[in-house]
Amino acid sequence: MRNESEVPVADVPFTIPVADRIKRLPPYLFGRINKLKHEKRVAGIDVIDLGMGNPTDPPADMVTEKMKEALLDPKNHRYSVANGIFNLRKEVAARYQRKYGVTLNPDNEIIACLGSKEGFSHMCLAMMGPGDTAIVPAPTFPIHAYSVMLASGNVIALDVRDPDKFLENVEYTCQHLYPKPKLVIANFPHNPSGTCVEQSFFDRLVLLAKKYKFLVISDFAYADICYDGYQAPSFLASPGAHDVGVELTTMSKGFSMAGWRIGFCCGNREMVRALQTIKGYYDYGIFQAIQISAIVAMRHCEDAVDAIAKEYEERRDVLVDGLNRIGWEVEKPKAGMFCWAKIPEPWAQMGSIDFSMKLMEEAGVAVSPGRGFGEEGEGYLRLAIVENSQRLRQAVRAIGKALKVEAAPAA
Ligand SMILES: Cc1ncc(COP(=O)(O)O)c(C=O)c1O
Repeated sequence: MRNESEVPVADVPFTIPVADRIKRLPPYLFGRINKLKHEKRVAGIDVIDLGMGNPTDPPADMVTEKMKEALLDPKNHRYSVANGIFNLRKEVAARYQRKYGVTLNPDNEIIACLGSKEGFSHMCLAMMGPGDTAIVPAPTFPIHAYSVMLASGNVIALDVRDPDKFLENVEYTCQHLYPKPKLVIANFPHNPSGTCVEQSFFDRLVLLAKKYKFLVISDFAYADICYDGYQAPSFLASPGAHDVGVELTTMSKGFSMAGWRIGFCCGNREMVRALQTIKGYYDYGIFQAIQISAIVAMRHCEDAVDAIAKEYEERRDVLVDGLNRIGWEVEKPKAGMFCWAKIPEPWAQMGSIDFSMKLMEEAGVAVSPGRGFGEEGEGYLRLAIVENSQRLRQAVRAIGKALKVEAAPAA
């Protein structure tokens, strides 16, 4: 028998030693669903995709026209400014002032990010380290927990569906955990549950942050998608918020610019500076033509944002009213791009992953199983209202057929 030293180097098995931070990540629970969706599509089968909150509508014409013009200007093809060009940051400040009465200094309280997700995760990296703990909302939008884990921090997930209880539990955790949590992540309107709050919630959160000395990151991705006259409040509009935290916003949802990858982190200047330091090492900023188009969008296209929100509101009504007519009781969310639906009783025992697979197999409708958002999401499905009303009606009919229930006539 040959001993190890006689095996030619080229034949020695080589395993890739990935970093522990990768091994800490839990298995990806949307894998099975995505595989089946892919197989169906490859086989030419139509799938109505309510899985991901990926907007299907294009941005306003003025934005795409500006992009075409900016593309032809050679100076826009160089590296841009890492924290975003000044006029873009000024426009973000103007919009915050207009919408929320919040004053921001474009010099040091605003940074442009490659979408809010990139800004969020790098902010966690800038603030968290081994031994630090973050409180995240549960059910949990995966990146809220994974960003903390990737930064080697620990996660405490607190149910967010009753916001008063959430605050009580934050306080209880601060009183009983040692070392105390360093960070609380807020996300209202909440993905996936659709939970919304009023300004007083953030007022109280800021007071708790000051009392127990934790930081706040508010993920305000669904700021622009509100219904029935509701206006989601900005964390930064609460007194003292600038002292304790930052807020992430995005052009992905309200401006339908998801693929453009542009969002913002605003608020506490030391946190903004820390993010700027990390980003200074990791990237060279956003393609300048995108930044210029984003200025035009914020300056001139607020009507298009309102129209997009209205469109989602109509889709929400079509989907929720339709599901209610087939006997599946679902509440109408006040904001966001998702319906958070409890699995109807006869199928509740199946669990959210198997029930999602059933809807995909038998109705050709892709949804996200609640389990993908942690244990607190089990028993629920998340349906994204990203397909048009006609497709949503088709989805309701197909679901009714798969569950063998008849729709009650429309009122
Ligand atoms: C709660 C929440 N935060 C952040 C994001 C990421 O958005 P962006 O496209 O700005 O990175 C999403 C996208 O679905 C989201 O649902």
